[in-house]
Amino acid sequence: MWDELMTLHAAGRGGRIRDLFDADPDRAARFCASAGDMRLDYSKTRIDAAVRRALTGLCDRAGLAERREAMFAGAPVNETEGRPALHTALRDPDGGPVVVNGADVKAGVRDTLARMRAFCGAVRDGSAAGPGGAFSDVVNIGIGGSDLGPAMATLALAPCHDGPCVHFVSNVDGAQIADTLAGLDARRTLVIVASKSFTTVETMTNAATARDWMTRGGGDVAAQMVALSSATGLTARFGIAPERVFGFEDWVGGRYSVWGPIGLSLMIAIGADGFDDFLRGGRAMDEHFRTRPWEDNLPVMLALCGLWHAQVCRYPTRAVLPYDQRLERLPAYLQQLEMESNGKSVAMDGAALTLPSVPVVWGAPGTNGQHAFFQMLHQGTQIVPCEFLVAARGHEPELAHHHRLLVANCLAQSEALMRGRSLDEAREGLREAGLTGAELERQARHRVFPGDRPSLTLVYPCLTPFVLGQIVAAYEHRVFVEGVILGLNSFDQWGVELGKEMATSLGLVIDGQADAQGHDGSTAALAEYVRRHCG
Ligand code: F6P
Repeated sequence: MWDELMTLHAAGRGGRIRDLFDADPDRAARFCASAGDMRLDYSKTRIDAAVRRALTGLCDRAGLAERREAMFAGAPVNETEGRPALHTALRDPDGGPVVVNGADVKAGVRDTLARMRAFCGAVRDGSAAGPGGAFSDVVNIGIGGSDLGPAMATLALAPCHDGPCVHFVSNVDGAQIADTLAGLDARRTLVIVASKSFTTVETMTNAATARDWMTRGGGDVAAQMVALSSATGLTARFGIAPERVFGFEDWVGGRYSVWGPIGLSLMIAIGADGFDDFLRGGRAMDEHFRTRPWEDNLPVMLALCGLWHAQVCRYPTRAVLPYDQRLERLPAYLQQLEMESNGKSVAMDGAALTLPSVPVVWGAPGTNGQHAFFQMLHQGTQIVPCEFLVAARGHEPELAHHHRLLVANCLAQSEALMRGRSLDEAREGLREAGLTGAELERQARHRVFPGDRPSLTLVYPCLTPFVLGQIVAAYEHRVFVEGVILGLNSFDQWGVELGKEMATSLGLVIDGQADAQGHDGSTAALAEYVRRHCG
């Protein structure tokens, strides 16, 4: 199958994407996948019917349908850790049972969701409060999956905010917590400590700093701190009572956890009904993913386009370009989701991968990116497949003229990337501008756009909680499909451990409690520099 794809890629090298539109006037309708009102257009790629057939063949060859059902059913698909990956159960509390170790996990999901709803309601109506009165602010302290999901989603759904103001602190750099707490009332701030393991050094350091700040400011830690964690023993040791802990099981991976307790800050910002809509959107995408044939299946096609570009065409990066300012954190969120899940060199069976794994995922919202790195996208020597996201309408009817410009720019960029501008067209433009002779020739080359640069566009009616749920679930399934086809375990992350261990030992060197023996010369010299200059 891969060989066939490599052959098709080599054979298509001479042709251009725009020629595919000339050859097939229906191309845009035939090379798209819809899920409800959402549409993924992948017609601006070099994928034709033969390539798509070979790509969907990868799904069958990898046993994707069986792996997908195994994941939904709670089988231990995270093989290195011997666990299921059941984030889908979090967004389907009332669906059929899912049995793990002889017990239905849904009862616990429903119970925790009901507790979250009750607590969220109490925070929002002021019946849960600090000594200074109803909570004015909420600070979520967490990192990685305990930050990126709720932070991304809370910003995305700003038009739905009608609760206290929600802030996020993740970095161990004291600058972030100092700046965040500086403007807040220590007697009216709720602190949520979000950590599945409750051992992550950044989160525990920030949580202790917040607890001190609260105590010094006359706050009441018992009333103003809650924990979102799987480690109930450790939350108690930190001083958070069991009734203030919203727990979840080890079958929820950090980067897949926004659908449960880790989403509490989002729920407080938008209300429990809005959060339900977010879950409904995710569930709708699950249903679509489980029932649609591969070529009509939006997350599957998203994954297959990704594999075509990264593994077959060998483009080393992929740009995510939301023309939706409130999705500003989506690229960062996807960096963890995609790169922590699939950034691996070893397949599930321990064999070395023979194909590249996940590409570098990066991006920024349009139109800002246009004035920064789009120069490279259009005229650089590397081809970067782009993924545009855009809503048909914004949340500000009085600013519809802004939205028109936003959408026009989004569509213009994908068209320009594909179409390009030939030397003759460049000459023609310069001639019209009054240039002639040598000067015209000198300038023309700089105005050539190679074009033929592929992109996908995901369009949706409006960025509501439901639509955001669809988007997040679609990307989660994309990662899963790519992982299954590459033979990877998308649910572990051993690659983050080594650096964590070394940071512990270097902390002692910087403190002067250990010498730098065992560290290389560069690291030892840098640690020594910091020791001398740290004040
Ligand atoms: O970066 C590694 C990681 O384990 C992520 O997978 C996880 O989302 C993050 O750290 C935070 O972990 P925790 O929720 O246990 O604090």
